[in-house]
Amino acid sequence: MSSLSLYAWLRPIIFALAPELAHRLTLLALRSGAAFPGALPASAQARLRTRVWGLDFANPLGLAAGFDKDAEVADALLRSGFGFVEIGSVTPRPQPGNPRPRVFRLAEDRALINRLGFNSAGLARVEANLRRRRAAAPEGGVIGVNLGRNKESTDAGADYLAGLRALSPLADYLVINVSSPNTPGLRALQGRDQLAALLAPLRAALSERGAGRGPPLLLKIAPDLTAEDRADIAEVALAQGLDGLIVSNTTIERPAGLKSRFRGEAGGLSGAPLFAPSTALLAEMYRLTGGRLPIVGVGGVASGAEAYAKIRAGASLVQLYTGLVYRGPGLPKRILTELAALLRHDGFATVAEAVGADHPDLAPPGAGGDPAAERSG
Ligand SMILES: Cc1cc2nc3c(=O)[nH]c(=O)nc-3n(C[C@H](O)[C@H](O)[C@H](O)COP(=O)(O)O)c2cc1C
Repeated sequence: MSSLSLYAWLRPIIFALAPELAHRLTLLALRSGAAFPGALPASAQARLRTRVWGLDFANPLGLAAGFDKDAEVADALLRSGFGFVEIGSVTPRPQPGNPRPRVFRLAEDRALINRLGFNSAGLARVEANLRRRRAAAPEGGVIGVNLGRNKESTDAGADYLAGLRALSPLADYLVINVSSPNTPGLRALQGRDQLAALLAPLRAALSERGAGRGPPLLLKIAPDLTAEDRADIAEVALAQGLDGLIVSNTTIERPAGLKSRFRGEAGGLSGAPLFAPSTALLAEMYRLTGGRLPIVGVGGVASGAEAYAKIRAGASLVQLYTGLVYRGPGLPKRILTELAALLRHDGFATVAEAVGADHPDLAPPGAGGDPAAERSG
């Protein structure tokens, strides 16, 4: 029985559990050595290998933030086929998040709504977990760290700075998350002046730490932005020397046609209904930044065709979360096998060649130069 059909059989049992309990049990299984089935044929592996920000990725498919918030199971996830794992969001001090229930399965819609509100073990614990992992000499694999802020904090900038100082030595890339819908006031940081004021000290702090520019600094944005916000973010991102964007977080919109009885729950919607709006935003941000900033495309990916559509729209890398809940542990391998076949069919020898293929008038990020050399130059 393939792992996908096995999961189809197990899913009703898993779905009988509350979503957060099912998630905790999955983390426990991964901690105790379980790994999802991962290995790909050698020909697919060669086509999927990619280099972004001077970092080598075994493949362009990552696990999005929110699954391994406290860096408990990153290596098991890397062994399961993901090319990279983004841990977090991490808040400076531990905080419990919102009262339960706060995660809802919209099964008919292949979607989730969550209003977790940054439940986090805090920087000290996450730092210890990342140090332990590093000491165990893992095989490699890229680990991104997504930073949030405490709910009670009055100084968001200080929170992100604390996260950056504690975790930049342990992160292959850092993400400033200003787009979760469940922390009051957070998304207002996406406004032009607020964003510039937030990012400048972070950029400066990374440079101060010696060793060049430090890890690449990315910004994760919401899908619910006005045209003005989108243009402002592109401009500030380029002016502040950001290294990339993650597009997108969950949406507070409720697209017409949602069927589940949970559709009215407050929080951020992820999964299938987010695919179209997040991919449209990705294409727009790629155009607004002239294809000059690598973009991580996330939202509603559950097939190779969807991952490929994000890449063609301008994503150098792709992430998912909700697809895993509905399709199970065999999903990364299936997506990567399908993606390699699609690239081959269209005559692309590498992922990088296909990035932004839907915008033939724009050059892909890093074209005409080595992105690592550009970053350190
Ligand atoms: C339960 C849950 C928790 C999440 N927590 C975070 C988080 O802590 N930080 C963050 O930047 N994004 C978080 N996300 C958003 C995901 O990283 C991703 O951007 C979004 O779910 C869209 O991708 P998907 O449709 O593949 O799930 C969370 C999503 C879910 C479903």
